[in-house]
Amino acid sequence: MSEPLTIRCRENGPLVVKPPVRVVDHLGNEFPLPTGKELIALCRCGRSGTKPFCDGAHRQAGFQAAARATPPGE
Ligand code: FES
Repeated sequence: MSEPLTIRCRENGPLVVKPPVRVVDHLGNEFPLPTGKELIALCRCGRSGTKPFCDGAHRQAGFQAAARATPPGE
């Protein structure tokens, strides 16, 4: 059985996922993935000029998102 896909929430930044992964639009059409990247960063601030991918605009926007999951056993 394969490992489940992990989506990592970067503090005050994008959602990051390690390929292989497909990113599709609301019609199921596939976006070409950024090349030369070990990880794929998906925008969650809404400011990227390359949505659905992060282009770093969250930094200039002062995006704040530091939600944390509850560790097991707490
Ligand atoms: S999260 Fe990076 S540009 Fe939106």
